[in-house]
Amino acid sequence: GDSLQAAASAKGLLYGCEVPFHRFDATPAYRQAVARECGLLVCGTEMKMEEVLPAPGKTDFARGDAILRFARANGQRMRGHTLVWHAALPPWVGPLLGRASAVQAEDFMRRWIETVAGHYRGQIVAWDVVNEIFGNEADPDRGGGLRDSPWLASIGPGYVDLAFRILHETDPTAAGTWNEDAVEQGVPWMEAKRTKVLRRLEAMRARGVPIRRFGLQSHLTSTIPIDQGQLRRFLREIGQMGLGIEITELDIDDRAFPSDVATRDRRVADFARRFLDVVLDEPACLDVVTWDIYDPDTWLNDHPYRKRPDGLPQRALPLDAQFQRKPLWHAMRAAF
Ligand code: XIL
Repeated sequence: GDSLQAAASAKGLLYGCEVPFHRFDATPAYRQAVARECGLLVCGTEMKMEEVLPAPGKTDFARGDAILRFARANGQRMRGHTLVWHAALPPWVGPLLGRASAVQAEDFMRRWIETVAGHYRGQIVAWDVVNEIFGNEADPDRGGGLRDSPWLASIGPGYVDLAFRILHETDPTAAGTWNEDAVEQGVPWMEAKRTKVLRRLEAMRARGVPIRRFGLQSHLTSTIPIDQGQLRRFLREIGQMGLGIEITELDIDDRAFPSDVATRDRRVADFARRFLDVVLDEPACLDVVTWDIYDPDTWLNDHPYRKRPDGLPQRALPLDAQFQRKPLWHAMRAAF
């Protein structure tokens, strides 16, 4: 049929979206849209530690399992998001890591990865093993590019390699992905970050760390241009290392575009196209995931500094509030 996944398949790629359980559960039209358009699903929060480990000694896989069952019933693959992140830690874990020795913290991380990646063993195409480990403008780096985090503080910089090794031991069928934000656009601090990412990827490969993919979150912002040359060079270097590339969380923050809906939708589509044309041209690129699929659910509307000055909701995603295909949908189909 005619869908984003059909267009992606023709190029040997997967297309998919983030699915939040509450929407999935409440809205049949949403489930139909996801079944029609996607070949790949990812849970927005349901496989994060905050939801899976609500209290010490207690696990909750109910919502993640429901989304996985739906994916399997529809012949869709799933990504896993996310094993080691500074955020979405349950309230009881911060203090625990705060008083743990390095060995105790490593042990906690190992048991957590074994718990969640063990539960989903054999069913996840790629896990975001680490998420947002590097600093950006708001989170200055603490050496080697790594940002402050309870994992860095308790285990030290070796926590990144260790997480990849534990996933590989737990589920060798799942590719290990380093998922990173703010590496896509044309501004000096992102270009500096890209250089540091490349150096760390090379060092990880040299150490034999079982990392297989690099994920560009791709929360694109209309306030910063896309530099196609810089982006292309970055991706080529990753591809030459033998790593796969994923677009893991695509959306377009349309804050810099006019209020008028038709104009805004066209600007969003053109902006995404400039980005996708470069990424999809890179042979190492494997899949494209948007962070949800329909405008009313975008996380951008809840984000303090991504709010539009005119107060209107963001139009960041391929489908509108009536599940109609927007210019962004058409741009994506054409880009595949
Ligand atoms: C977001 C979810 O979409 C929200 O529902 C949640 O409240 C916070 O996290 N980068 C990531 C994702 O890697 O995990 C974030 O997801 C969005 C930014």
